[in-house]
Amino acid sequence: MPHERFHYKSLEEVQATAAALGVNLPFAKTTAVLGTPITFGNVQLPNRLGIAPMEGADSTPDGSPSEYTTRRYVAEAKGGSALIWFEAISIVEEGRSSKTQLLLCRENLDAYKRLTEAVKQAGLAANGHAPYLVMQANHSGRYSNPDNRPAPMIAYRHPELEQYRAADDSCIVSDDYLKMLEEKFGEAALLAKQAGFDAVDIKSCHGYLLAELSSAYTRPGEYGGSYENRTRLLKNGILAAKAHEDEHFMVTSRLGIYDGYAYPWGFGVREGGGLTPDLAEPIRLVRELYEDYGLRMVDLTMGNPYATTHVTRPFDKGKYQPDEHPFLGLDRMIHGIGALKQAVPEMTIYASAPTYLRQYADLYTAGAVEQGLCDGMLFGRMAFADPDFANEIVRTGRIDPSRVCMTCGMCGDLIRAHKPTGCVVRNAETFMPFYKEFLELKKNQPANFRG
Ligand SMILES: Cc1cc2nc3c(=O)[nH]c(=O)nc-3n(C[C@H](O)[C@H](O)[C@H](O)COP(=O)(O)O)c2cc1C
Repeated sequence: MPHERFHYKSLEEVQATAAALGVNLPFAKTTAVLGTPITFGNVQLPNRLGIAPMEGADSTPDGSPSEYTTRRYVAEAKGGSALIWFEAISIVEEGRSSKTQLLLCRENLDAYKRLTEAVKQAGLAANGHAPYLVMQANHSGRYSNPDNRPAPMIAYRHPELEQYRAADDSCIVSDDYLKMLEEKFGEAALLAKQAGFDAVDIKSCHGYLLAELSSAYTRPGEYGGSYENRTRLLKNGILAAKAHEDEHFMVTSRLGIYDGYAYPWGFGVREGGGLTPDLAEPIRLVRELYEDYGLRMVDLTMGNPYATTHVTRPFDKGKYQPDEHPFLGLDRMIHGIGALKQAVPEMTIYASAPTYLRQYADLYTAGAVEQGLCDGMLFGRMAFADPDFANEIVRTGRIDPSRVCMTCGMCGDLIRAHKPTGCVVRNAETFMPFYKEFLELKKNQPANFRG
């Protein structure tokens, strides 16, 4: 299969290809709107640029941030993004994605206090503003690997996902376990607040436990079947976290609004509707989170990075299956998110996944904001490659094309191999040695192994 790399030499070429594919990617004439404030609740941030959660697999064995972790976030804070959405931090040992995934607990709270202080100080000193820090509270569910070996904890049997990662009925978590987790999300919120984060994200995206529950149509009991049951843990987790909300600390959620699987295996689709998104339930959810649960800001995303990777983070066509043009993925993402923004305009909505567009990701983000598709954007892979992207955009008007992410996928390979993760291209000195270790490890895995 030919591997069609990103080859566009100008925005006009990008736009011509988009037009030929029949997709409408928003591009602004300038990035000026990105340097304007964004508001939610009683919070006002100086720009609309944020960093998406990006797991670094570089914790110490007890789940505390290591020197690598601190270095990463300090660099991001210096780079001027008004918001940093910290990576998935496990709320229980058994739900860790690896032995080196961050885990926040009472015993290591002080290490997290030191991390948030260092990050805020770095932002303040470099830019005159401390970044707004969101902690992503997560249970890895099907992708739990607490000992760097798969130990899946699943909501229901999913034949498509089990092609990539074996699971059986014994992996299905009980209703009692899920009930217990509701309280754990409350405890995680309290710890996040005590650790100095500004907000906690009750994460429900990318196929992890809460996201998997959202499509648990076939699960019996209190957490499956009806929409109310499928969203029960998310909502009760939010309620438990909200007990700790105050004027300085907020509850939010990163929500997956479409998984890329047909009914009954994905959220955001309709029975008989194939893979076509049907956003009625995600719209209902975001509206309820605004009106009934008092959330004022959310980030929206799509896909399952282990299986429908092209949906979560578009990459060069032909590199892996399915052979979808990445512009189709961008179009699905931004207009799906835009549909939610238009349905619930009161909610401040961050969008996701601009990085594939490289040096045009800035004008794309500005276009999305100008067209009312979102209020702000979280940059993922771009932040690994160039943590200074926000200052470049806000201070000079454009991102530095010599520093952009090449969407090579090597950071994704590293995370799957539980190796410290970062940009192998732009920071080869640190990350190439880990990449070589990954290549060795890969030799011993089946061809279809995905994390
Ligand atoms: C190495 C790596 C780690 C990631 N870790 C997380 C994570 O911890 N939590 C999360 O919600 N998304 C995670 N993501 C997804 C990103 O936040 C983001 O949604 C995705 O990369 C698309 O954005 P981009 O096109 O700007 O890269 C990760 C992605 C990569 C490549």
